[in-house]
Amino acid sequence: MTDALVLRRVRAVDPSLALDAEVDIVIERGRIARIGPDAGAALLKSERVRVVELDGALVLPGLIDLHAHVREPGQEYKEDVRSGLAAAAAGGFVDICVMPNTKPVNDTRAITEMLVAKAKNIGGTRLHPIGAITVGLKGEKLAEMADMRDAGAVGVSDDGRCVMSSAVMRRALEYASTFGMPVIQHCEDHTLTEGAQVHEGAVSTKLGLRGWPRVAEDIIVARDVLLTEYTGARYHVAHVSTYGAVRILREAKHRGIAVTAEVTPHHLLLTHERVLGYDTACKVNPPLREDEDVEALRGALADGTIDCIATDHAPHSSLEKDCEFSEAAPGMIGLELCVPLLLGLVKAGAFPMARFVDALTAAPAKIVGLDRPTLREGARADLVLIDTKAKYVIDPSRMRTKGRNTPFTGVPVEGRVALTVAAGQIIHEAFA
Ligand code: DOR
Repeated sequence: MTDALVLRRVRAVDPSLALDAEVDIVIERGRIARIGPDAGAALLKSERVRVVELDGALVLPGLIDLHAHVREPGQEYKEDVRSGLAAAAAGGFVDICVMPNTKPVNDTRAITEMLVAKAKNIGGTRLHPIGAITVGLKGEKLAEMADMRDAGAVGVSDDGRCVMSSAVMRRALEYASTFGMPVIQHCEDHTLTEGAQVHEGAVSTKLGLRGWPRVAEDIIVARDVLLTEYTGARYHVAHVSTYGAVRILREAKHRGIAVTAEVTPHHLLLTHERVLGYDTACKVNPPLREDEDVEALRGALADGTIDCIATDHAPHSSLEKDCEFSEAAPGMIGLELCVPLLLGLVKAGAFPMARFVDALTAAPAKIVGLDRPTLREGARADLVLIDTKAKYVIDPSRMRTKGRNTPFTGVPVEGRVALTVAAGQIIHEAFA
């Protein structure tokens, strides 16, 4: 047993405190007891203190993922709460919000309660269910949002399916806003994407696959912005993928409408060209798009038009991926890839470090009403220590998730989550 954990001479970044400095961080009794230059010096010789000192250590507030799939109940062969939480901790996440497209769908108090209880029992990363907007994700009848909220749900979404009816969406926004919950929309006009496999463009033509045009996303974002303005509710766009959606969001924000949005690491990094080899690991919904979309997404993340980064961690087994492209399930794993992949983009200057951190901490916390993670003295000790000098090649077989479905296998990266701390407890540790 140790009384304290000292993170010695680390670079600490917390934009909410305008902090980017070399400090010591002392963690005692679940809290950040002290933070500042040499703040741990007096404790270094104590036997009951653990000291972590690592060249190139970067410490951030604990990360929050607004969008993960842990597949429980119903598809535990792909992921379950235990493996999902382990993957989250290994990725530096202290809180994850989990999507309701399970089997059965999480549209009830009972499933929400089960998830919360199971996660509490396991411990580590905290799990927050997102309930369905409509019963069975069918887009028809509103689910019992109040019941799910009382059981611990932090938002509602029909993720994977879009609420197509404007009337249902209007009622969903009105109903959810009475509980202060955001409505999280998967923006896809299904009448424009029937049978679609990839982004509609030169690659879909070349491969002879049905395309998913950008406008199918843009139409829904535009409609929902209007409904949000009309109802005065809170609206969040899941996994934005098009430059058109960015334009609509930017204008909506300028006009003071309560819209927020997230982007995934894969949409910030990859384009539809990657699908040319029919690699099913690149099949994802919404699909990988084009250079101008990637550029717009990076710019929107940098200037805050897109509030946060969310992984859309979507584990599938080889049954769903080792098959023909048109048969494969969409989705890729993300929890353990987010930090190393995106640190590379920060380094390349795609967006500033402060925005990267905010987009994975304070911004998502605000959207779903969680405590804002911070490195402030006295705060709950939720943080992640990253070994920025660790160089390795991405290998899903070494990961905690059950999913192996990623197009990033074999990609060299720099930066490993070495320590994740939630409420003062070490929930993941991986020093090289
Ligand atoms: O690619 C995706 N996979 N997009 C979604 O919206 C759902 C997810 C899944 O559940 O596999």
